[in-house]
Amino acid sequence: MSANIIDGKAIAATIQEEVSAEVATLKAENDVVPGLATVLVGEDPASETYVRMKQRRCGEVGIHSVGIELPGDATQETVESKVRRLNADRSIHGILVQLPLPDHLDEERVLSAIDLQKDVDGFHPVNIGRLAMKGRDPLFAPATPSGIIELLDRIGVAIEGREAVVLGRSNIVGLPVSMLLLKRNATITICHSRTQDLRRVVKRADILIAAVGRPEMVRADWVKPDAVVIDVGINRVEDPSRRRGYRLVGDVAFDTVKKIASWITPVPGGVGPMTIAMLLQNTLIAAKRIEGLG
Ligand code: GUN
Repeated sequence: MSANIIDGKAIAATIQEEVSAEVATLKAENDVVPGLATVLVGEDPASETYVRMKQRRCGEVGIHSVGIELPGDATQETVESKVRRLNADRSIHGILVQLPLPDHLDEERVLSAIDLQKDVDGFHPVNIGRLAMKGRDPLFAPATPSGIIELLDRIGVAIEGREAVVLGRSNIVGLPVSMLLLKRNATITICHSRTQDLRRVVKRADILIAAVGRPEMVRADWVKPDAVVIDVGINRVEDPSRRRGYRLVGDVAFDTVKKIASWITPVPGGVGPMTIAMLLQNTLIAAKRIEGLG
């Protein structure tokens, strides 16, 4: 038997169409155009690519996008004052500060400066705090973790009561996806570099989320038969047969694990496309709330 492949690209395209239709209605009925501002500090090539992709997708769905680019040596005050100016800008409903920021900047202070109502990335400390609390909800949850839950929901995987194992404890994926799964009443185990007997722990998972950035670390004999496997890793491995000299692989050994799992995401084309789709959706939600329509 072979797993069902979760087509994140197709699901993200469906969400993008849904957002696009709602954006058109908002414009036609209320003369409101959702606006997203991206703030990029420095010249990290990966961050530049991500921000460009986010802006392009905004254009595709009719969201107005503004890109703020600051030099890598921008001061704390410069970055925070840009954010405050965007807070006051009526044409902007969502503000995204691309992470990581250069080392000399205090990330928490920058994120704290974002207006909570415009925190479409969900990284404001108050939103993260609410995410971590029982009985409270953030105004927005981070995009990649939300995209993972959305994938599970759209393929009809039950979360409540299941054993979910999360490999990785990053602020961007591992920790927030654990909190979202907990809110959906899964039983959560978070694994990290100090976890003992990792294979045994991973093998308990009904739902496995791999987000460690280690190429093909999860092998077939780590995976419980019929588990749902969500691979967040995007790793470059050398491949002289490719024109670029490398190919992308996830944290999961896809070809062998797909024979064990019931569902599995490919890399690329699994979780990756969902991140921007959720950001677009959050920006639409922010616009409706701020304009008193949602
Ligand atoms: N860096 C890596 N992923 C993300 C993300 O989802 N949002 C932001 N702002 N920065 C990131």
